Amino acid sequence: MDQFERLSQLPLRDDLRGQHPYGAPQLDVPILLNVNENTFGLPLDAKEAILKAVADELDGLNRYPDREFTELRRALAAYLGHGLTDANIWAANGSNEVLQQLLQAFGGPGRSAMGFPPTYSMYPLLASGTGTAYVAGVRGDDYGLTAESAAQQVRAQAPNVVFLCSPNNPTGTALGLDVVEAVYDAGEASQAIVIVDEAYAEFAHAGTGSALTLLEGRPRLVVSRTMSKAFALAGARVGYLASAPEVTDAIRLVRLPYHLSAITQATAVAALRNSDALLANVEAIKVQRDRIVAELEQMGLRPAPSDSNFVFFGGLEDPVSVWEKLLADGVLIRDVGISGHLRVTAGTEAETGAFLDGLRSILAK
Ligand SMILES: Cc1ncc(COP(=O)(O)O)c(C=O)c1O
Repeated sequence: MDQFERLSQLPLRDDLRGQHPYGAPQLDVPILLNVNENTFGLPLDAKEAILKAVADELDGLNRYPDREFTELRRALAAYLGHGLTDANIWAANGSNEVLQQLLQAFGGPGRSAMGFPPTYSMYPLLASGTGTAYVAGVRGDDYGLTAESAAQQVRAQAPNVVFLCSPNNPTGTALGLDVVEAVYDAGEASQAIVIVDEAYAEFAHAGTGSALTLLEGRPRLVVSRTMSKAFALAGARVGYLASAPEVTDAIRLVRLPYHLSAITQATAVAALRNSDALLANVEAIKVQRDRIVAELEQMGLRPAPSDSNFVFFGGLEDPVSVWEKLLADGVLIRDVGISGHLRVTAGTEAETGAFLDGLRSILAK
């Protein structure tokens, strides 16, 4: 009996029947460049600080953690700057949970959320899980999104929530702040919550603006961030947002009590105290990212401009076969299901070299 047959025997919600769960492969291969993790390990100082912070929590582990995770919100506000305080910050178990909580509060049955594919594959899944209708907008040539086009589509669809992913996953390219401003204004009529997902913001090229600069005076704007990427803490599950305090109050209505464990809070606070050490590899990753773009161009492929820690590239005749051959060489990258394209995470110099050498020899055959 396959999974669908087994599920068909359960009284599952009708809208979940036939759906597939999120499923980036988790394979045991030497070089993992498929889910945009930070492939550098944590520096020793940071590891020791986290270990001590977690050990200090053990005595109080019989008690529930601080439901308001106040120390963590303060530390995140200080990290972000822009005059933000703990009242502007919310955090959860990964930015996926932050986004889910936003949909629980502002989406739901009878409401809609809009995204602009190709974009982060979890947006429609989070919408589906919260009973929110998902509206797929369209992008222009080369997957770009202009302010005029995005605003016109938001005006036409009048969604309750808009996802703008910048830098966008899977294309890697950041949006101009003019797009965020135009979408925010276009969402006035439907009072849309505009979420700018900046999971990869720390990897952006110098001069790329953050929507954090637009928060002042925009109570429906939310900027989502994560410690999974630049901070190399994907396994700790810490995502967060910055917004007007009213938005965080709305999320308090839907969050589970004590959703951030004491261990998670201690880990994240210790990591933020060591942010210089943890973020030290961001520049090295950007170098590898730019190297991938340059070398893929030399191979005659078409990499998209990237402000993130990954590169989306086109020009492949048979991406599935290239993906399989790289995997056979021990290099796992991502087939995002877009014709002629694949996506690769920038790793260490050695990992990136293994990917580039492998690809070069596959294309030469
Ligand atoms: C654009 C984007 N947003 C959010 C996430 C979720 O990250 P996390 O839940 O680890 O914070 C990811 C993860 O790959 C992502 O690519």
